[in-house]
Amino acid sequence: MLIVANWKAYVETREEAKKLLALAKRLSKIRRIKIVLAPSFPHLGLLAPNNISKVAFAAQDISDTKIGIATGEVTGGALRSVGAQYVIVGHSERRARGETDALIAEKTKRALVNGLTPILCVGEKERDGDAHYLSELKHQLAAVFSALSPRERLGVVVAYEPVWAIGKHAADAMSSHDLAEMVLYIRKVLADYLPGKSAKSALILYGGSTEPANARGLAGGSGIDGFLVGHASVDHEMFPALVKSLV
Ligand code: PGA
Repeated sequence: MLIVANWKAYVETREEAKKLLALAKRLSKIRRIKIVLAPSFPHLGLLAPNNISKVAFAAQDISDTKIGIATGEVTGGALRSVGAQYVIVGHSERRARGETDALIAEKTKRALVNGLTPILCVGEKERDGDAHYLSELKHQLAAVFSALSPRERLGVVVAYEPVWAIGKHAADAMSSHDLAEMVLYIRKVLADYLPGKSAKSALILYGGSTEPANARGLAGGSGIDGFLVGHASVDHEMFPALVKSLV
């Protein structure tokens, strides 16, 4: 299982960042668990360059610019140079700040060109009765996958994060049954862009109120390959309990 810890803007001190890395290092020794930490940019620069553990690092965002005149932007090359291997793109909290599908497609491309694995977040804002949420999801996936070359498409990890389920508690998350349906649907959409076998084996994560109480249930039988964990990933009790519940 791939567990991506999305620290969002929860962690503000170097001390806390280091403590959470030490915790992740211990958990990364568990068999069949791969932990990827996604700290803020400054903490990525602090923790990733000296890392010799099995823990990997992700950035929470990437610039769509290549290099040069773009004050405040962080390029794929800069991320790569400090040791990031993954980057989260299209998170709903960034979409809410105005990121469009076109911008997200460009960011995904910049990640791939720089040898970073994009973790592409997709997910409906709400569940309506007439299945509009399925076309919303299809549209988000199509916008990115159609902008990539066949080879680039193979390098994308999809994180399915229903927006209505983010930042709450286990009881508000998606049911395992509904998640299984959504994972099948995502693989069906991906089959339009990837050769058959690759659509079946593409990595799909779930994100949205994953806690120790529901992680195992969500993982069992839903066909997901791991989780994108938000608030529980910065909690010293919940994160280890969540990871251990999966083995
Ligand atoms: P949450 O966040 O686990 O706090 O719901 C998940 C995410 O937004 O990536």
